[in-house]
Amino acid sequence: MTINVLTLVLHVLSVVIWVGGMFFAYMCLRPIAASQLEPPVRLQLWVGVFGKFFPFVWIAVILLPLTGYMMISNLYGGMGNAPLYVHLMNGTGSLMIFIYLHVFFAPYQRLKRAVVAQDWPTGGKALAQIRVLVGVNTALGLLTALIASGGRFFS
Ligand code: HEM
Repeated sequence: MTINVLTLVLHVLSVVIWVGGMFFAYMCLRPIAASQLEPPVRLQLWVGVFGKFFPFVWIAVILLPLTGYMMISNLYGGMGNAPLYVHLMNGTGSLMIFIYLHVFFAPYQRLKRAVVAQDWPTGGKALAQIRVLVGVNTALGLLTALIASGGRFFS
């Protein structure tokens, strides 16, 4: 009982911090930064913001599958007995993690290098790619949370 509660709590906390953080960055901070800051300042701001946020995302992308598969084993005795909504969550959750890994190892590294080199056009292109991918992951995250919390009532 205790381990199931602990894994579910760590699972949901990971979702709240990751998806909530992306929602704030994409829907609140991004439009204001774009309307008020010149590109050099804006790019440096985002390198700082991602530098603070991504360590928490790393914890979430490790804890989510770890606690998710533990719950599948403890609650359902394996993937074969898991309900449809858990399979859907596993699918969209895995896609979200792959998108994050691409963001971290590709455009984010390019953005950091461009800011160090003060190459603002290259930095702008990398930030534009991050914006699109974080937008997709925010939508996937909200959809997955809906499927996860409502799924048991439809399966
Ligand atoms: C990466 C793969 C993932 C796996 C294998 C997984 C698996 C699970 C399992 C087995 C449960 C317990 C379901 C139950 O009580 O019957 C659960 C709960 C939950 N999951 Fe996931 N999950 C994953 C990713 C995600 C992601 C990415 C999100 C949201 C963005 C998410 C949101 C939730 C929520 C909100 C609950 C609690 C549902 C409730 O108790 O009402 N999960 N997950």
